[in-house]
Amino acid sequence: MEMNLSNGRTIPSPGFGTFKTPDGGICIEAVREAIAAGYTHIDTAAVYGNERSVGEGIRASGKPREELFVTSKVWNTERGYDKTLRACEKTLKDLGTDYLDLYLIHWPANREQFGDRADAINIDTWRALERLVDEKVVRSAGLSNFYPSHMAAVLAVANIAPVVDQIEYHPGLLQEETVVTCRKNGILVEAWSPLGRGRLLDDPVVTGIASRIGRTPAQVILRWVIQTGVLPLVKSVHADRIRENLRVSDFSLDGQDMAALSGISEVRYGSHPDTAKF
Ligand SMILES: NC(=O)c1ccc[n+]([C@@H]2O[C@H](COP(=O)([O-])OP(=O)(O)OC[C@H]3O[C@@H](n4cnc5c(N)ncnc54)[C@H](OP(=O)(O)O)[C@@H]3O)[C@@H](O)[C@H]2O)c1
Repeated sequence: MEMNLSNGRTIPSPGFGTFKTPDGGICIEAVREAIAAGYTHIDTAAVYGNERSVGEGIRASGKPREELFVTSKVWNTERGYDKTLRACEKTLKDLGTDYLDLYLIHWPANREQFGDRADAINIDTWRALERLVDEKVVRSAGLSNFYPSHMAAVLAVANIAPVVDQIEYHPGLLQEETVVTCRKNGILVEAWSPLGRGRLLDDPVVTGIASRIGRTPAQVILRWVIQTGVLPLVKSVHADRIRENLRVSDFSLDGQDMAALSGISEVRYGSHPDTAKF
């Protein structure tokens, strides 16, 4: 399935995640396997330390680069205009590609760490992404882990609007304020850790629905994400799971099951962008 971006481009859904996928053979094989299974959207980041293997996996798949959608992210130590430009250059080199489909600011500089300078730092980083778009090195630019309070300053001055915000999102973390703000600004929400890093798969609400409708817990959650209008990014290094997670377009959840999943009590597996210290 393709989703629309506000700049007129499209983005394939679901995307294939690579966080914690070990660099080397495991990563090369997971990416190759994912593309063979039918994923055309690969999500990585400089800080995952596996961009070279992601690139090798892409080449091993035999799929032409222009048929794939590749996302990477500038890490927190590289914020600011010049450093971001250099970070992107390294990412391109490591991936072995001459452009990215999407480049994201991985985490906002927050007030807890940077006080009054936080907004200015995020704007400087955004200016670098705008330049990369202008130079056609990056086709689309976006944000990750930006909540409305972090987004406001960037949106106020952006010459090129962010097309995506990638946030932790799953049953138990609906992120309503951020989702509403994104929609108002034409920003597509991407879900990271949609399966709660695997930990939501044992939730009784999820397993109950899965066994009743004859789907797996992972498929139920990914379907829920899609039906809420959000693009899931899902990671696995196992061929059977990689394939299972892609079979989510031949069924739908009814209103009652959607509501039950949305009602799972609040749980967050990753860091909060306001308090993250890395
Ligand atoms: N922007 C950010 O700050 C940020 C943060 C976190 C993640 N992300 C992105 O989002 C992607 C997804 O998030 P995530 O990797 O944290 O978590 P996730 O996709 O929610 O869960 C991955 C975990 O679930 C297991 N799993 C996957 N499919 C399964 C299935 N069908 N049945 C049973 N277990 C299954 C995987 O194990 P195996 O691999 O062993 O199969 C892995 O342990 C990341 O890979 C990354 O690309 C971005």
